[in-house]
Amino acid sequence: YKRITVKSLVEMKQQGEKISMLTAYDYSMAKIVDAAGVDVILVGDSASNTMAGHETTLPITLDQMIYHASSVIRAVERALVVVDLPFGSYQSDPKEALRSAIRIMKESGAHAVKLEGGIEIKDSVKRILNAGIPVMGHLGLTPQSIYKFGTYTVRAREEQEAKKLLEDARMLEKIGCFAVVLEKIPAELTRVVSGELNIPTIGIGAGAASDGQVLVIHDLLGMTHEFNPRFLRRYMNLYEEMNVAIGQYVKDVKNKDFPNAGEQY
Ligand code: KIV
Ligand code: NA
Repeated sequence: YKRITVKSLVEMKQQGEKISMLTAYDYSMAKIVDAAGVDVILVGDSASNTMAGHETTLPITLDQMIYHASSVIRAVERALVVVDLPFGSYQSDPKEALRSAIRIMKESGAHAVKLEGGIEIKDSVKRILNAGIPVMGHLGLTPQSIYKFGTYTVRAREEQEAKKLLEDARMLEKIGCFAVVLEKIPAELTRVVSGELNIPTIGIGAGAASDGQVLVIHDLLGMTHEFNPRFLRRYMNLYEEMNVAIGQYVKDVKNKDFPNAGEQY
């Protein structure tokens, strides 16, 4: 099979083929996700929550993102691998943003980076693009700004915010981003933005009109059973299945059932 490139994604949009994207943060999971045919693997800063147990995405560092990204890259043969620039690694000035993006590309071997925000980070995105590094945008609910908003509720319901989001999306396309994530915005706004842009939109909690969908792998597998937003479709209840399997192992050890005669040398 052919490797997915940033060009393939734009072609998928042109041909009306929806883009599938999922997160992965480590080698073993990335191997399974890639083999199952997911087009884009996102090494999201959601690793701060899922892998490290932080309440927000803010604490994860650039070094930690590079560790996750390089683990994923070693597993992937087909998917395009996009890595989040973590909070604090690009907001202070465009030069630092470029340095951070270069570190990710060089030290992990990733194919592209993702940054949260619109006009506020325009110069940084431009710099990174000028260095030949593909950039994915991220608008709507931007978890790195959680303390500015105070909640994880739906964004851009009001006209002013919706208008800014559309302008930001247009700007990101104009300066050369290859795709934009739209997180937790009304389905109708997703339809408008996706219709306006030639580059693909990838939605999460943003309805059916985006050119692709993204979910956090732990949510899709049902490993995070306390997280229940309306947009989430669970394809497994892995929390329960793992709990039963591990409980059985504990029992077998306690009962001296494991290992049995055939399971030793
Ligand atoms: O970090 C992440 O997982 C993300 C996706 C939810 C888009 O940014
Ligand atoms: Na993210």
